[in-house]
Amino acid sequence: MFRINLLLSFLLLTFGLTAQNTVNIIPKPVSLTVNEGSFTIDYKTSVKYIADKDLQAAAKYFTSCIKDISDVNLAVVKNPSKTIELKYDKAKVPQAEGYILTVTKNKITITANNRQGILFGIQSILQTLPAIRTNGALNVPCMEITDYPAFKWRGMHLDVSRHFFSPETVKTYIDLIAKYKFNTFHWHLIDDQGWRLEIKKYPKLTSVGAWRVDRNHLDWDDREIMKPGEKPTYGGFYTQAQVREILAYAAERGVTVVPEIEMPAHVESAIAAYPNLSCIQKPQSVLPGGIYPVDYQTSYCAGNEDVFKFLEDVLTETMSLFPSKYIHIGGDELDKRFWEKCPKCQKRMKDEGLKDVDELQSYFIKRMEKFVVSKGRKIIGWDEILEGGLAPEATVMSWRGEAGGIAAAKMNHDVIMTPGNPLYFDHYQAGPQGEPLANGGFNTLGKVYNYYPVPKELTSEQAKHILGAQANLWAEFIKTRLQVEYMVLPRMAALAEVVWTPVEMKNFADFRKRLQSHFVAYGQSGLNFSKGNYSVEIKPLIENGKLNVQLNTEMPDVEIRYTTDGSLPNPNSLLYSAPFEVTSSINVKAVTVENGKVMPLEPSSQSFVMHKAIGGSVNYVNKNSNAYPADGPNSLVDGIRGTYAVGKFWHGFSGKNLIATIDLGSVKNISSISLGCLQHYRDWIFMPTEVSFEVSVDGINFKQVGKEINNIPPTETQAIIKDFTARFNNTDARYIRVTAKVLPEAPKGHPGEGKPVWIFADEVMVE
Ligand code: ACM
Ligand code: ZN
Repeated sequence: MFRINLLLSFLLLTFGLTAQNTVNIIPKPVSLTVNEGSFTIDYKTSVKYIADKDLQAAAKYFTSCIKDISDVNLAVVKNPSKTIELKYDKAKVPQAEGYILTVTKNKITITANNRQGILFGIQSILQTLPAIRTNGALNVPCMEITDYPAFKWRGMHLDVSRHFFSPETVKTYIDLIAKYKFNTFHWHLIDDQGWRLEIKKYPKLTSVGAWRVDRNHLDWDDREIMKPGEKPTYGGFYTQAQVREILAYAAERGVTVVPEIEMPAHVESAIAAYPNLSCIQKPQSVLPGGIYPVDYQTSYCAGNEDVFKFLEDVLTETMSLFPSKYIHIGGDELDKRFWEKCPKCQKRMKDEGLKDVDELQSYFIKRMEKFVVSKGRKIIGWDEILEGGLAPEATVMSWRGEAGGIAAAKMNHDVIMTPGNPLYFDHYQAGPQGEPLANGGFNTLGKVYNYYPVPKELTSEQAKHILGAQANLWAEFIKTRLQVEYMVLPRMAALAEVVWTPVEMKNFADFRKRLQSHFVAYGQSGLNFSKGNYSVEIKPLIENGKLNVQLNTEMPDVEIRYTTDGSLPNPNSLLYSAPFEVTSSINVKAVTVENGKVMPLEPSSQSFVMHKAIGGSVNYVNKNSNAYPADGPNSLVDGIRGTYAVGKFWHGFSGKNLIATIDLGSVKNISSISLGCLQHYRDWIFMPTEVSFEVSVDGINFKQVGKEINNIPPTETQAIIKDFTARFNNTDARYIRVTAKVLPEAPKGHPGEGKPVWIFADEVMVE
C-alpha cells in the first residue's frame, strides 16, 4: 500500500513538474508563450532597478502586493539568488504602455516603454499568483509576453452621487481598474442627489449639497423629497485630503483619475446649497431619488455671471487637486425649459446673438472650455454638447448610442465610446429574475465582449479619433460596495479585452475559460461577482405560423436542462438541443448544468399564454421605435405578457397610433380580442385613448367588432397594465385589425407636457 502511494506521489510530482503551465491573463496579451517550469518568489528574491523614481514606485507597489499575499518582503533581501528586474527600453518596446515580460526559473524581467508598461507587466505577474494570503509557493510560470494596448482610452466610470461610496470602496474599484489594465477612472462626483467633492471656497456644497434624506429602502422613483421637519442624514463627501490620498493610490497603480464636474444640468445638489445659481433662485432640498416637483430646477442659470464665477472657482480648486489632462464637464440631459422662461437667460441669448436654447447651452460649454483650456487642460463632455455647436477642442463621450461619437469624429473631434448598449453596467447582465433590481437594459457578458468601439461608418482617418471605450456605472440602483462589485464583475474583464486585445485575437469561448480562474481570484479576494452568464435566455421564435421556444446560454461546455410545467429543473430534466414548439400555455424553467451539477442560480423562467393569434403574422401601419422592439414585429403574438419592469417584452410606439393587422393563417371561429397596454407615467408611456377591433375573412373588408374607450386618467402616476377587450358573438375571421389611438401629448404637469408620448403593448390575445 505504502509503495503504491509513494509511486503515485512520484508520478503526480513528475507530472506536475512537466505539465504545461496554464496562464489565464485577462486581457489576453498580444503574444504569450508559456514554457516549462516556474520562477518561485521567495525569501531569496529581490527586485532590481536603476535609480528612477517611477521604477522605485513600481517596485514598492509590487513588493507590497507580494507582502499582502505572503510573508515575503522583497524589499529587505540581503543576498538574493533570484531577481525580478524592472527596466526601460524604448527601442525594444516602442508602444506607450507596452511591456515585455520574460520569466525564466532564475529571473523575471519586465521591460517597458514607460512606468505604465512596467505596472502592466506587474499586473500580468500578479494574475498568475493567488489573490489571497497563502503559505504556498508563489510560482510564476516561465513565459514570454509581448504586450501593448489596442486603445489609448480604457476607462471605468463610477457614480458616487446617487449613492455615496467610501474612499475604501473607491480604492477597491481602482484596484480592479489596474488589475485589468484600464488606465482611466472617470469619477462622477456631482449629480442631483449629492455633491461629493469638498470645495473650500464654497463650503455649503458639501455641508448642504452632500446630504439628503435617507429613502434608500424605497425604489429610486418612489422617493419623495424631504418633508418639513425632516433632517438630511444620508450622504457624504470626499475631503480634499481624502481625494489626494485616492489620487496617490491611483497614481501608484498607473490609473489616471478624471473628475467630472457636471454642468449645466444634473446639479440640483449645488442648487440646494446655493439657490442663487438657478434661474428661479428658490430654496430646494437635495433630491433623494429620481422624482421632484415641477418647480424644482436641477440646472444652473446661463444668464447669471455669478454662475460662471462660481464654476471657474470650483474648476480652479478641482484642477489644483487633479493632475489629469482631461476635465469632464458633463453637459448631459439639460431640461431647457427654465432657460426659455428666465429673463437673464433670454437677455444673454439676445446679447450674444444666440438663436435658441441649444445655442445657449453651446455658449455655456464653450465658455467653460475656454477657461479650462486657459489652464492647460482639455474638456470632455457627454454627447449632448454637440447640440447648438461643439466647443472647438472638446472630446465627446458618446452615450446615447454611437451616433454622437460618429458625428464628432467626422468633425475631427476625439471620441470616447460609452454607448448605453452594451457599456452601461447599471443595466442587467442576466435575468431579470434572480438579479438585483437594475436600471433596465440587458447587457450580457457576451454583448460586452463582442463590442468594438470603432464604427464602420468612419474612414480610417476619422477612426483615429476614437480614443477607446469606457463602461459607466450609474448608481441609482446601486447602494452598496457589494453591488458595485457585482455589476462590474465580470463585465469589466470582458471590456478589458475589448480595449486592450487586438480585435482579431478576441475569442469569447477562450475568454470564458480564462475567466474561471478569475472567478476563483474574486472569491479569494472577497469580491462579489455575478455568475449571471451561466443563466439561460428564454426566447420566443415564430416561424411558419408556429411559436417555438429557443434556449441560449453564453457559457461554453454546459448543458441546458428545462421543464415546461413550472417545476424546478434538475440534471435529469429534459436536455435542450433545439427549439421546441409551444402548443398550450406553459411555464418554461431552465438551468445550466456543468459536470452534472446545476449552476447555483435562480432558474430562468418564462410563461407563454396560448391563444388563437399565436404565431400569426403582424403588419403595422406605423413602424414602432427601434428603442423598444420587444422581440420584433411578432411580439404581439408570441404568448409573452409584459411586466411592470419597462422594457424587454413591451413593444413601444412613440407619438403614433398602433395599427396592427394580424393574419391568423386560416379562418378561425373567434369571440374575443384583447390588447394588453401599459401606463408608466414617469417613462412617458400612456394608455391609448381608445382601442378598436375589426375582423375580416378576406383581408379587404373589415367589420368592427368592438371598441373600448380608456378609463385610466393620464395623470395616474402608478404603473398600470390594462387589457382593452372586445367580446362579440362567435364569428369567422382570418384577419384581425387593432387600432390603438395614442394620447396626443403628455398631460399638463408632466415633465414632457405638450410633447409626444408612447404606447406600450405586449400582446393581441384572440379567443
Ligand atoms: C448619462 O447617462 N446621462 C450620461
Ligand atoms: Zn436663467
